[in-house]
Amino acid sequence: MAPSHYPPPRSRAARLVVLVSGSGTNLQALLDAAADPAYGATVVAVGADRDGILALKRAEDAGVPTFVCRVKDHPDRAAWDRALRDEIRRHAPDLVVLAGFMKLVGPDFLAEFDGRIVNTHPALLPSFPGMHGARDALAYGVKVTGCTLFVVAAGVDDGPIIAQAAVPVEDGDDEESLHERIKVAERRLLVEQVGRMAREGWTILPAPAAAPAPASAPSSSPTTPGSTPLGNRKVTIP
Ligand code: GRF
Repeated sequence: MAPSHYPPPRSRAARLVVLVSGSGTNLQALLDAAADPAYGATVVAVGADRDGILALKRAEDAGVPTFVCRVKDHPDRAAWDRALRDEIRRHAPDLVVLAGFMKLVGPDFLAEFDGRIVNTHPALLPSFPGMHGARDALAYGVKVTGCTLFVVAAGVDDGPIIAQAAVPVEDGDDEESLHERIKVAERRLLVEQVGRMAREGWTILPAPAAAPAPASAPSSSPTTPGSTPLGNRKVTIP
């Protein structure tokens, strides 16, 4: 498999569509950064899977067009996935940023924007994927956790990792205090890396060939050829 190259747009800012479900502090960080033309990216639309969230208000306050695409307004999940894809397509994005978007996108969406969707997760993937990255890390008792920016692929929080930042767990942390500290790191990482991608483009390298499984390994071993996790591919920004 050949590397996939995503060059930056020539002589214009990269167009970002940001998807949100909650308070939108990551969105706000992008909006603030994009106010500077030197950042190289502009938020052209913000989409949500629900109404009445602070993230939508942040977009409106910034004068950015918004749309809401709710699963319950569609006959099934696949129809919702296509409707979301169509809404986003109208805004011709160079990059789709999932910034606290609490839905899994489906195959039609992924096929349309393949390699151009990034997501931020509040844990050091591949540890603690899923809805409660901070809570699960705390419950496990790790001493260091953090955040991950990755290219979205099929699966839960699986895909080529763009960048990560570490956040120490402190004595006395609860889920909220830990998640808030992770979110500070997340916003910094998101702004820094999305800006680099917008200005310089990026490349997704194919996964290295998996080593042959040792004779004694069980057949489900992760080293079995063909079972390489998608996150094993690498993303480089020149
Ligand atoms: C972030 O920690 C994100 O990784 C997680 O939800 C949080 C969203 O925060 N999935 P906000 O809505 O950007 O403030």
